[in-house]
Amino acid sequence: MNINYSNNRTNCIITIIDKSNINNYSFLTEDQNVYLKKQVTNESKTVNINNYNNYFIFITADLTKKDYWVLENLRMSGFSTLPVINSNKFEQVGLFIDIPNSTLVDLKLNSLDLVLAYSEGLALSNYQFLEYFTDNSKKNSLSEIIINPNDEFADAENKVNAINNLIEANYIARDLVNKPVSHLNSTTLAKNFQKYGEKVGIKVDVLEKDKIEELGMGGLLAVNKGSIDPPTFTIMTYKPENHKNSKPIVLVGKGVVYDTGGLSLKSTASSMDLMKSDMAGSAAVFGAIYSIAKNNLPYYIIALVPSTDNRPGGNAYAPGDVIKMMSGLTVEVLNTDAEGRMVLADALHYAKRFDPEFVINVATLTGAAAQAVGKEAIAVMSNTEIDLTQNLVKSGFEVFERMVEFPLWEDYGDRIKSDIADIKNIGGKTAGMITAGKFLEKFTDYPFIHLDIAGSAFLEVQDNYRGKNATGSGVRLLYNFISKL
Ligand code: BES
Ligand code: MN
Ligand code: ZN
Repeated sequence: MNINYSNNRTNCIITIIDKSNINNYSFLTEDQNVYLKKQVTNESKTVNINNYNNYFIFITADLTKKDYWVLENLRMSGFSTLPVINSNKFEQVGLFIDIPNSTLVDLKLNSLDLVLAYSEGLALSNYQFLEYFTDNSKKNSLSEIIINPNDEFADAENKVNAINNLIEANYIARDLVNKPVSHLNSTTLAKNFQKYGEKVGIKVDVLEKDKIEELGMGGLLAVNKGSIDPPTFTIMTYKPENHKNSKPIVLVGKGVVYDTGGLSLKSTASSMDLMKSDMAGSAAVFGAIYSIAKNNLPYYIIALVPSTDNRPGGNAYAPGDVIKMMSGLTVEVLNTDAEGRMVLADALHYAKRFDPEFVINVATLTGAAAQAVGKEAIAVMSNTEIDLTQNLVKSGFEVFERMVEFPLWEDYGDRIKSDIADIKNIGGKTAGMITAGKFLEKFTDYPFIHLDIAGSAFLEVQDNYRGKNATGSGVRLLYNFISKL
């Protein structure tokens, strides 16, 4: 999929119009103009007019809504117009807007924002994962969105290029999450980071098992004990010459390529059968650093990915075990299915050596987060009352990856006190996403934000342009947030 900026002609012409101000179009007949007005007053968000040699699609924007809803409704219109584009076998669509910037001042938006939101929704909806189908007839026809030049646009070429790269990053993240474990283990996950990362100027170092042992990453090694495949620890660095931040921003992503639960085995339906997606946090942080690098943003970013599968093999770590983590803290393991925090703890400790400006952890960490906020939101926690978190929440509305904040109050820490070790890896029936956050916090000494994407990363039912299966949750969010620092 490509989003380009040019005045190339296409047979499918899409125009974004203001719902409350419908103009007459010279390329339509009188009857068609009447039809368009009538359809819009009938509350249609999209109107299709087939003119034999041209197919016209009108998208209405409701400018009485809040800014982020205006954009989100356009993304959703992208999703609702895609079937007619693909069923007519259009390979390209041309995109226009008939809303001047002057109409959008109060919303603090401009006409290009609207065009980009619609394009984004259309492009995200057109994602397909067809790798394992033997026939190729399932492929959608649409492959290019052409945004047509408009005097109202500013810096359009760069912005179109940037959104195109961001879509590509989202696609890569979704591809990685959609691959089952037999096609993507910790080694091949790291190889993928290397392959894509090095193309855009990211330095990728992959630590193998011997090095992980040498570093004493006890959490990562404990989870890996039941596995036949070795673990990996990937360090990705993007440090452009013009970086604005002297201390790096460190992103940490959970890279559990498959989570059986280990000896605390999961059940199959709607549980273990979804757990190829347990590396979605790593895909999100990769998508973020990839899009930042590809768009040459001036930020110094490091991404860390501890990776293994979690299996009940012969030598698997067991409930009751005590593990010495890389930081030196000891952990009583009472449930081997709470493995994400074990591998992430070592990565968070490792991050200290970079003296980070702040660290954002992204993980499909707890069923509790998914239960609490569903697919609609990301659970966010942070260790300090920092503006950063508020800015992240704001980015969440802009890209519509909304967030719900949970506290890391000190007394929640009581839940992970152990009789036999410094802490234990579970904290009782309630507030599970918070205990997981408190656990992670023990391994940090810097401003820390934790995103639990368990609800939003992988969907069993199609959710508009976010799709079915992998969504790429976190990629657009982190890109937006970091690009505004
Ligand atoms: N990967 C799971 C969390 C998860 C659940 C992600 C559902 C996406 C959808 C994680 O490793 C896990 O198993 N967490 C346990 C922790 C518990 C044992 C304290 C959970 O949430 O049940
Ligand atoms: Mn688990
Ligand atoms: Zn897991």
